[in-house]
Amino acid sequence: MQKKIIIANWKMHAPNLRSWRSFRAPRNVDVVICPPFPYLLSVSSLVISHKSSVRLGAQDVFWEDKGAYTGEVSPAMLKNSKGEYVIVGHSERRRWLGETDEMINKKVKAVLRAGLKVILCVGEPLSVRKKGLAAAKKFVADQLRKDLAGIKKSSVISHQSSVIAYEPIWAIGTGRSDKPSDTAEMASFIKNLLLVSCRLSHVPVLYGGSVNSKNIADFVQYKEIDGALVGGASIKVGEFKKIVNVTSKI
Ligand code: PGA
Repeated sequence: MQKKIIIANWKMHAPNLRSWRSFRAPRNVDVVICPPFPYLLSVSSLVISHKSSVRLGAQDVFWEDKGAYTGEVSPAMLKNSKGEYVIVGHSERRRWLGETDEMINKKVKAVLRAGLKVILCVGEPLSVRKKGLAAAKKFVADQLRKDLAGIKKSSVISHQSSVIAYEPIWAIGTGRSDKPSDTAEMASFIKNLLLVSCRLSHVPVLYGGSVNSKNIADFVQYKEIDGALVGGASIKVGEFKKIVNVTSKI
């Protein structure tokens, strides 16, 4: 079975770094911490060591390697800051920054080209989910086809470098998480789609949307759900530790 992956997305919250000093992850769970850009190096020196299975990720990236792109950060810069993973296509960026599937596709390609691992976020809005799970699957399939257009099997498989985070928009930060059996169905739909249309196998599919220490087990108990992308509940180390520990016991 695929090792479970728990990713912390701190969003635009300044961390209490002292409290993270003692954070360690159990060997059977891969943990990725994604702080805002300015904290990458300090988080790296606090919790990332060759002995631990904690890894560092960024919340976004630009698709060019360098140039006149004010405010942007390149994949190479992230690598220099010890980043290994990059979240791409988060719904908050799609919403507030106007990121399109075409932009996200360029970012995915740039991340893979640089040898980094991509955490690609997809998920439907409430208006779509109200029409049922079939409509949500169609929406997600469309996003995946556009976001992964032109990605070669070899580039993805060779680095073991892609993670899909299924995050229904209506579940993010609302305290209203998805029904775990629906998530499992969506996760297996995504895996099948990646296999049939992109010939990609073994791509982990995570769930994101109001995950906490009380509901994490309901999701990760399914073999189809390979872990979680955690927002609000990842900011305080105590709650995040609980989420990781519950996952390690599944
Ligand atoms: P949430 O956020 O856990 O606060 O719902 C998840 C995410 O946006 O990745």
